[in-house]
Amino acid sequence: MMLAAKDLRDAGQRVGLVPTMGALHAGHLSLMDRAREMCDTVIVSVFLNPTQFGSGEDLDRYPRDLAADAELAFTRGVDIIFAPEPEEIYPGGFSTFVVVEGMSEKLEGASRPGHFRGVTTVVNKLFNIIRPAFAFFGRKDAQQALIIKRMVRDLGMGTEVVVGPTVREADGLALSSRNRYLSAEERNAATVLRRALERCRTQINAGERDSSKLISVMQTIIEAEPLARIDYLAITETARLDPVSVVPADRPTLVSMAVFIGTTRLIDNIVVNGEI
Ligand code: PAJ
Repeated sequence: MMLAAKDLRDAGQRVGLVPTMGALHAGHLSLMDRAREMCDTVIVSVFLNPTQFGSGEDLDRYPRDLAADAELAFTRGVDIIFAPEPEEIYPGGFSTFVVVEGMSEKLEGASRPGHFRGVTTVVNKLFNIIRPAFAFFGRKDAQQALIIKRMVRDLGMGTEVVVGPTVREADGLALSSRNRYLSAEERNAATVLRRALERCRTQINAGERDSSKLISVMQTIIEAEPLARIDYLAITETARLDPVSVVPADRPTLVSMAVFIGTTRLIDNIVVNGEI
């Protein structure tokens, strides 16, 4: 892989990388489409990265089907699938980690300690192996995209990070590999995340800027759903991910949440007053 990617670069090809953990869905495919538009060669990595999962999390039951993923990706016009073995990414004695301090401990990082350390380390390793000119990430994981942008900037990594919009089901549920854990009843309940976020957007557009009021509106909507349990609900700025008490009119503001539907933890967000 290292040689193939180098040859492509040397031949003047613009290489684009879409990092994934497999279980591909239309959200991933939209990033591949974007990469196809912007790059000469599109590489999709499929690697279920153990270091970004906590001990009680779903690493063991995360869906794996490389043949189906490859079929989907190649049909979509991807040139190369890079599906390394764990030993290629984490050789024996592996002991080097990349951490974006501050942002990584907020929001998702507060609920999932060490998660972003695993993400930034594996993305760094993938970038070092492939050296892509462009790399594509989804706004569905807004904090992840912001952290990776920061890492690339801070370390002068020379890859341009492109962030694509969240792809949703017809009823608004953000596509996620974890949606397949939901029962039919839970699947219906899961629309509550998006409903709360859209209500928040409507309230902001109507002039409500007080974050605590906006949060309590969302909280009321989510708590009305018996299968839902809030992990966090937050309104933050996008540079440090610190909470804002008043939503500014002129700066992008992230409204994000993690909600358990039954035992499945789902995340969703919107960005108001701009984009990330
Ligand atoms: P994974 O969850 O497989 O997601 C791969 C990419 O697809 C991420 O950039 C994610 O934000 C994007 N994505 C997921 N659902 C989406 C949706 N509904 N709409 C748009 N984009 C969506 O995120 C990871 O893997 C890993 O942390 C990874 C970056 C690969 C590092 O291991």
